[in-house]
Amino acid sequence: MLKKSAKATKQRIVLYGDSTLRKICEPVTEITPDLRAFIEEMFKILKRAKGLGLSAPQVGRNQRFFILDLSSNSLEYDQMVLINPEIVSVSGEQCCEEGCLSFPGLYLEITRPNKVTCRYTDLDGNKMSVSAEGLMARAILHENDHLDGKLFIDYINSADRELIAGKLKKIKVS
Ligand code: NI
Repeated sequence: MLKKSAKATKQRIVLYGDSTLRKICEPVTEITPDLRAFIEEMFKILKRAKGLGLSAPQVGRNQRFFILDLSSNSLEYDQMVLINPEIVSVSGEQCCEEGCLSFPGLYLEITRPNKVTCRYTDLDGNKMSVSAEGLMARAILHENDHLDGKLFIDYINSADRELIAGKLKKIKVS
């Protein structure tokens, strides 16, 4: 029987300003019981925070995976784990208001591709591919960016950045 370790249940969402969010994450080399327990905990945190997606670095783990929970949007896919994701292709364009759990209360209009195809490994180690559009595509691209230390505020111009400077300052951890 697998005992849940204390460390697996001690997750919290890392906020903007923490250097963890700017690091390039390392590939996952093995799907261990520890990783599974960690991901299970991530889904709980995501649900509690009412978010659509959460990446490993946002809970302090420097590895290439993220989870999605689009069940509240009644889309074809609800809960997904994408390990070592690779964006294969993108097309089209969408502009939508976007938020991030590491930036509480901040919503920005961000332009992104409307369609994406992404290869990844699932929790059972299977090589998978998903093609998505709209909100799902946006969520995949947003979370995938986190694995390369890229944040949604990086997409806005410097004038808009100045407008939100006060909000960022409030969020930023010292
Ligand atoms: Ni985010």
